[in-house]
Amino acid sequence: MLTILFLFLLFSSTPFSANAAVQDFCVADPTLPEGPAGYSCKKPASVTVNDFTFSGFEKAGNTSNIIKAAVTPAFAAQFPGVNGLGISTARLDLAPGGVVPLHTHPGGTELLVVTEGCIQAGFISSANTVYYEILAEGDVMVFPQGLLHFQINVGDGNAVAIVSFNSPSPGLQITSIALFGSKNFPSSIIEKVTFLDDAQVKKLKGVLGGTG
Ligand SMILES: *[C@@H]1O[C@H](CO)[C@@H](O)[C@H](O)[C@H]1NC(C)=O
Repeated sequence: MLTILFLFLLFSSTPFSANAAVQDFCVADPTLPEGPAGYSCKKPASVTVNDFTFSGFEKAGNTSNIIKAAVTPAFAAQFPGVNGLGISTARLDLAPGGVVPLHTHPGGTELLVVTEGCIQAGFISSANTVYYEILAEGDVMVFPQGLLHFQINVGDGNAVAIVSFNSPSPGLQITSIALFGSKNFPSSIIEKVTFLDDAQVKKLKGVLGGTG
């Protein structure tokens, strides 16, 4: 009986294993455009260990900007080894008072680990419920794929977090910059779609560099 079962399993699984293409990795070739499945693969002969390591997290990003925050991405574009692996990472630096404004990563869920300081983070569900919490060093929070979310440094010193994504290219769209930093979004349309008045839209465009 066991022999029959064994033979059944052997033959029933053979077609699947024979068809499965086993590929260890597909290191990004960034000279070609990125498609829905990621970048094309570099020729395996030209892959080196440097494709599988990333050394951009050893120092803080430059937070001398309007949001007092810096994101150092290690997505497939910067870290070719993650291409095709369904994973990527980034370092987040927030100076005192720094904020990552309301934003979304259309391509992936985010997992955030606070490594320094104190961060108030939250996301808004499709039912418009806000889930937010103050996170201290060592705390972890997950932000479901595609949902709007934010991070604010609510401590006295710098805050640092390492985030990871279940996508090699999760994307990043910051709502306020999409609206008020665009070079060709007419104010008349922005006013209609946001319910803001002309003076408010002009003011925000002035701050975030939008024209049009
Ligand atoms: C940080 O960014 C600011 C504004 O772009 C720039 O003036 C400054 O030189 C940068 N600092 C470093 C250390 O790169």
